[in-house]
Amino acid sequence: MKVAMIGAGYVGLVSGACFADFGHQVVCIDTNTAKIEALNRGEIPIYEPGLDVLVNGNRFAGRLSFTTDIAEGVAGADAVFIAVGTPTRRGDGHADLSYVYAAAEDIARAMTGYTVIVTKSTVPVGTADEVERIVRRVRPDGDFSVASNPEFLREGAAIDDFKRPDRVVVGAEDERAREVMRKLYRPLYLNETPLLFTNRRTSELIKYAANAFLATKITFINEIADLCEKTGANVQDVSRGIGLDGRIGKKFLHAGPGYGGSCFPKDTLALVRTAQQFGAPIHIVETVVEVNTKRKLKMVDKVIEACGGSVDGKTIAVLGLTFKPETDDMRDAPSLDIVPGLIARGARIRAHDPQGMKEAKHLLPESITYCDGPYDAGKGADAVVIITEWNAYRALDLPRLKQALKAPVLIDLRNIYEPAEVARQGFTYVSVGR
Ligand SMILES: NC(=O)c1ccc[n+]([C@@H]2O[C@H](COP(=O)([O-])OP(=O)(O)OC[C@H]3O[C@@H](n4cnc5c(N)ncnc54)[C@H](O)[C@@H]3O)[C@@H](O)[C@H]2O)c1
Repeated sequence: MKVAMIGAGYVGLVSGACFADFGHQVVCIDTNTAKIEALNRGEIPIYEPGLDVLVNGNRFAGRLSFTTDIAEGVAGADAVFIAVGTPTRRGDGHADLSYVYAAAEDIARAMTGYTVIVTKSTVPVGTADEVERIVRRVRPDGDFSVASNPEFLREGAAIDDFKRPDRVVVGAEDERAREVMRKLYRPLYLNETPLLFTNRRTSELIKYAANAFLATKITFINEIADLCEKTGANVQDVSRGIGLDGRIGKKFLHAGPGYGGSCFPKDTLALVRTAQQFGAPIHIVETVVEVNTKRKLKMVDKVIEACGGSVDGKTIAVLGLTFKPETDDMRDAPSLDIVPGLIARGARIRAHDPQGMKEAKHLLPESITYCDGPYDAGKGADAVVIITEWNAYRALDLPRLKQALKAPVLIDLRNIYEPAEVARQGFTYVSVGR
């Protein structure tokens, strides 16, 4: 099948490359000329494990190409996916749909023959209806269907998630569209991946409900962690104790500095706004948003407390800046609240991240010193804070780190170390909920 993917970001590029790997003919289209030029040179503009091999393998095989020319990419396509950003709209917390609607207009002008237009971006209930209205207005004669196919991949494991998903959700209103979607995902169908067909509005809501549920799970265990700290319980054991219950499940029960990233913060907020707009407020998610926002700032106080009540004039080594390991994505990362918070309280920051430093330089205060690795970051520091649990920080040479530091204080916001072991090495160790 011929597929056009509008938006070659974290979702569009991975989805496009995976569809090409399934054997489809894929064109990725992006308005960002630098990104397309880089891809045409064989350079991958983002860090995602395995993506370079997948993209370039399919490019050389002639199944995957890149262009900024939407007309060229869309003409003759059986399916056109919209995978552009839907960030939080300034001022009111709703999803900003301007990129989606701009893409819809462009597709309408460029499509030829029967085309299924698919929203893969995370979009509020009713967006596919609006996309249909836009396309119909621009092309009253157009032969097309609009479908919703939300994406559930996780950055850092995106390729595997796309190729071996728990389920594929498709919202469609007509059999023609369903048939095209079935053909596109047939390679997964053979693996017995459930292909769940719903109406478009249901499909749109499934994505927000899934993200809000996961964000709620994280926030729940974070608050239990706070209670553990007050009561002498251990949150890791609580997680295990409840997670082994099949009704609850083990995943997303890791206490930490609060959820971040390109999806949960904006999607929980957008769901809250949609629910209010429709007169069916979801109070539990409203609370999750509020608790999580406050939590990131509370981590600043946690570090200050571990440093004896003040970080004024002190040097803090920060390990990990991205919102999670195995990505260079800095969007809404907890570090964006914690690091400026520490600087505002007088701290000097020496930071390291295996993939995020380039992007961090645009987003964090200029005064930060970026370092070559964890031991370099630790040089002369009064404390080390682990914000992101990169593998490179999981087995630090603690005596070496201690030697680099001015004071042996380790604040582990991801609970990757064993408290007794770190204490044995002579550190003051502070973690979350233990
Ligand atoms: N990142 C994730 O892990 C993830 C997971 C699931 C769903 N999503 C959703 O997928 C969507 C895309 O997210 P992302 O992280 O890939 O965003 P991104 O910012 O990485 O990529 C979006 C791309 O779209 C391009 N673009 C914008 N307008 C365009 C237009 N009119 N024509 C062509 N290209 C255009 C941008 O230049 C950019 O390269 C969002 O709705 C997001 O919520 C993201």
